Amino acid sequence: MPNVVIVGAQWGDEGKGKIIDLLSEKADAVVRYQGGNNAGHTVVIDGKKHILHLVPSGILHKGKLCVIGNGVVIDPAALIAEIDELLTQGIAVDANFKISDLAHVILPYHRAIDGANEGKRGSGKIDTTQRGIGPAYGDKFGRMGIKMADLADAERLEKRVSQSLEEKNFLFSKYYALPELKSHDIVPMYLEYGRRLKPYLTDTVSLVNQLLDEKKKVLFEGAQGTFLDVDFGTYPFVTASHPTAGGACTGTGVGPTRIENILGIVKAYTTRVGAGPLPTEGKDGGADLRARGKEFGATTGRPRRCGWFDAVLVKRARVINHFEHMALTKLDVLTGIAELPICTGYKINGENIPTLPSALEDIERLETVYETLPGWNEDISSMKKLEQLPKNTRRYLDRIEELVGAKIAIVSLGEDRSQTMILNSLL
Ligand code: IMP
Repeated sequence: MPNVVIVGAQWGDEGKGKIIDLLSEKADAVVRYQGGNNAGHTVVIDGKKHILHLVPSGILHKGKLCVIGNGVVIDPAALIAEIDELLTQGIAVDANFKISDLAHVILPYHRAIDGANEGKRGSGKIDTTQRGIGPAYGDKFGRMGIKMADLADAERLEKRVSQSLEEKNFLFSKYYALPELKSHDIVPMYLEYGRRLKPYLTDTVSLVNQLLDEKKKVLFEGAQGTFLDVDFGTYPFVTASHPTAGGACTGTGVGPTRIENILGIVKAYTTRVGAGPLPTEGKDGGADLRARGKEFGATTGRPRRCGWFDAVLVKRARVINHFEHMALTKLDVLTGIAELPICTGYKINGENIPTLPSALEDIERLETVYETLPGWNEDISSMKKLEQLPKNTRRYLDRIEELVGAKIAIVSLGEDRSQTMILNSLL
């Protein structure tokens, strides 16, 4: 299979970074299709931790082309800092890195509005990463966004920023009680970012389609996860883009019939960062699983809320993304837990609910139905073959496959590259 979309099947933080890093070895190119520096992909190589927010994790492999697609929103200062950090570590970021000139830009007023909106929402706040992601996508769809291509021309940029500031400054003074911004505080700085990033900018639509024409192996990298999708997630507790597999097409300019495979990344239990419903959430926000799995956000350091594996949810993700294969991550975290509940059904007032309901209030009042499997105590973290796994671990995997309706292609048993069983790389 020459190309695969990598998609988070829960609320993000499923361990996509590690899986993309592993599959990058066999790939020619990695293309990121949505989100921004709200994402944080952690990759551990030889004990050294790399956290990437915008640059695809394929960059850690020599000779792989890494592309930021048009569906991503870019904070240029954050991107430049990330590039500089990679360069300091001796990792090449030159002809192997390309950015779509169609991608939209995050400006200082987007970050300010993101923070101010959270304040306005009070107890109903979304707990965004406050990186300006939602307001930047808001401007894109409101047709007042600024694209990477606009950073190349002073006059053009000045015109667009001034137009946008007319509305923003009205909101700042009349609604948010924030200081107004002047275009001269923004334009010179963003022109400079534009100069710095110019060597990487290109028409990535032609580039990626050309790679596919040449039968090159391409990974499409999603950030966040299915239930943070603005359409399919637990709205309004979602991000502002489409992490789901369909986003790979609109976020790169590749037609749907060119996509050949989808790999759902699934954590062996469930986590979510920020507010919003989490049907299988454990006592005290799943404190025990959090401690075992070291569940703290890679971008903001916030503690993640944790709960048992929710098969109803992942089955829904299988349908939305149509993945036939899964990478199951952090299985080692469950070692030593005597009994492992799996959520197999939802009810409201005793009545069976077949899948995630559409209304937030209904999701919030779901009762979860569990079946419980026996756990295992053996250290599985360095096992290399499926046959080595304890009987109960195999049973857990088999049951997840059955309930979700997809095959496990990869099992991750620890954060290092070496702690992985690749049963089918799909590439
Ligand atoms: P935003 O994407 O910053 O607007 O945040 C919206 C919601 O998505 C918040 O609940 C965030 O915690 C969550 N979120 C955004 N990016 C990630 C991610 O990479 N992993 C997990 N949750 C995320």
